Amino acid sequence: MKIFITGISRGLGRAIAEEALAAGHRVIGISRRPPAGDVLEAAMTAGRCLWFSCDLRDASAVESVLARLKLPENQPDVVILNAGASPDPSNGPTCAAMAETFAVNVIGAMVWIEGLIAGDSPAPVRQVIYISSAAVFNRNRIPNLAYSMSKYVGTRAICRLRPRYPRVQFTVVYPGFIDTDMLGRISIPRWMKYTTHRAAKKVLSTVGTNRRFVPVSRRGILAGLLFSLLPPQAARLVMKPRRRDS
Ligand SMILES: NC(=O)c1ccc[n+]([C@@H]2O[C@H](COP(=O)([O-])OP(=O)(O)OC[C@H]3O[C@@H](n4cnc5c(N)ncnc54)[C@H](OP(=O)(O)O)[C@@H]3O)[C@@H](O)[C@H]2O)c1
Repeated sequence: MKIFITGISRGLGRAIAEEALAAGHRVIGISRRPPAGDVLEAAMTAGRCLWFSCDLRDASAVESVLARLKLPENQPDVVILNAGASPDPSNGPTCAAMAETFAVNVIGAMVWIEGLIAGDSPAPVRQVIYISSAAVFNRNRIPNLAYSMSKYVGTRAICRLRPRYPRVQFTVVYPGFIDTDMLGRISIPRWMKYTTHRAAKKVLSTVGTNRRFVPVSRRGILAGLLFSLLPPQAARLVMKPRRRDS
């Protein structure tokens, strides 16, 4: 299968790409920076992984990748909308943070659906997997309001597209807490975190299934439930933003 993944330079996206290659799939990915690590570098050299530099906030960059994805040899069977932005929440919900978060987490996901599934010559995409967040259930309890609201809008938009494209399976994944750069921006107890590869295997296990909603970790569900019982202000004290040095 050909799997198109957004945000493969690091974190969950890189782990999904590595697990997909290990399972024998071909990977096409985008990110602003090239994917790090021996596995993806070797796969790119061997022609099993194709990477395009693309900033999801740049419409012309997205258009040029879409044109490449429509070539018969690149048309993906599965699209994994993984790229995500979560600007530093310690400064509060600034306009710049909201613009970036919505541009990447909402528009930067929808644009691939419009470009590949809608339109005159749709690619043979069978499944779209949107990496959502349990933050959508605790929107007002999460320190980064722009992040949780953008994930909520992205998730709702995916759900509303289901009836419009009945031949495509839309799957929403709620990853829980995964040990990545993004999670480094808030303080989370270590026991709640999953490794990227464990979460990636779970994401890939949904490929080819008709599952609509997939929680990755029981720990994430438990943490979300406990969180939802706290008053919003207390919850925001538990999940504090970490101030960065620069
Ligand atoms: N980590 C968690 O606990 C957690 C929990 C719930 C949901 N999620 C979701 O899981 C997904 C992956 O998160 P992660 O933790 O792996 O984050 P991460 O380590 O920060 O990685 C984010 C990925 O998205 C790409 N990206 C960000 N902005 C981009 C842009 N403007 N254009 C193109 N690519 C961009 C990054 O690549 P470049 O910087 O190279 O562009 C990177 O590959 C996200 O959708 C996130 O919301 C994560």
